[in-house]
Amino acid sequence: MGLIAVDERKCTQCGLCARACPAGIIIADEGFPRTVEKIEKGCITCGHCVAVCPTAALNNCRMAPEECQPLAADWRLEPARLEQIIKGRRSIRRYRPDPVDRSVLEKLFETVRYAPTGGNSQSVHWLVLLDPEEIRRLTSIVVVWLRILLIRGVPGVKGMLKAWEMGADPILRNAPHLIVAHGAENDQAVNYSAIIALTTLDLAANSFGLGACWAGFLLQAANNYSEVYDALALPPGHRMCGGLMIGYPEFEYARIPARKGARVTWR
Ligand SMILES: Cc1cc2nc3c(=O)[nH]c(=O)nc-3n(C[C@H](O)[C@H](O)[C@H](O)COP(=O)(O)O)c2cc1C
Repeated sequence: MGLIAVDERKCTQCGLCARACPAGIIIADEGFPRTVEKIEKGCITCGHCVAVCPTAALNNCRMAPEECQPLAADWRLEPARLEQIIKGRRSIRRYRPDPVDRSVLEKLFETVRYAPTGGNSQSVHWLVLLDPEEIRRLTSIVVVWLRILLIRGVPGVKGMLKAWEMGADPILRNAPHLIVAHGAENDQAVNYSAIIALTTLDLAANSFGLGACWAGFLLQAANNYSEVYDALALPPGHRMCGGLMIGYPEFEYARIPARKGARVTWR
C-alpha cells in the first residue's frame, strides 16, 4: 500500500480528503483520490484525510479509519456553555488534601493528548508528581533560590520567604499533585505545544471537579537554578516547558472576576 488506499466501493469522489490535506499531497480532481507521490513524505500524519471522509473509504497507511473514533453529531457546546467554562475556570491556590485518583488523571491526559501540536509533532512529555512530600521538597529547593535572590536585592521575594517560614507554600500552594510538561531542548515548537496542552489541561480539569494553577514560579526557578532542574530529573536533553499544580479545590467561586476588555485592532 502507498500512503493512501481508497475503497472504491465506498468512495463517493467527494474530494474532501484532498481539500482537507494540509500538505496538498492528495489530489481528487478526477476519479478516485490519489497522492502526488514525490511529496508523500511531507505527510504529517494529521489524519485529516481519514477523519473527514464521510464513508470511511480512505485508509492512510499511517492511520486506518478504525483507529479514528467516530465524532458525535452534537459534539459542539453551545457558546453560552463554553463561555461559562472558560470564564468559570480559576487559578486554584487552595486544595483539599485528598489525592486525585490516578485513573482520573489518566482520563485527563486521554483528552489532552488531542491538543494541537506544531507540525502534529505530538512531542510534549509529561511528568506527574503524585507525592505531596516530593512537591514540598521541590518548593524547599525553590526557596533556596529565593534566598539567593533576596541577597541579590531582587524585589518581591521577602513576602514569599516569610510565607514559607510561616508554614505556607507560596510556590506550589500545598497542591497534592504537580504536572510538568517537558520536551526536547532542540524542538523549536515544543514550548508552544506544551503551553497549549497545559491550557487544555487547565480547562479540562474542571470537568472532573479538579482545579489547577500555573506553576510560573517553579518554571522561573527551573530556568535559573539548576538544582530545581536536577530535582525534576527530566530526561537528558529535555527542558521544562511549564507546569500546573492540580487537586480538588478547597472552595468554589460564586462569581466571575471582572477582566479588561479585549484589546483588538480591527482592520
Ligand atoms: C504563565 C502563568 C504563570 C503563573 N504562575 C503562577 C504561580 O506561580 N503562582 C500562582 O499562584 N499563580 C500563577 N499564575 C496564575 C495567575 O496569577 C492567574 O492566572 C491570574 O491571577 C488570573 O486569575 P485566574 O486564572 O483565576 O483568572 C500563573 C498564570 C500564568 C498564565
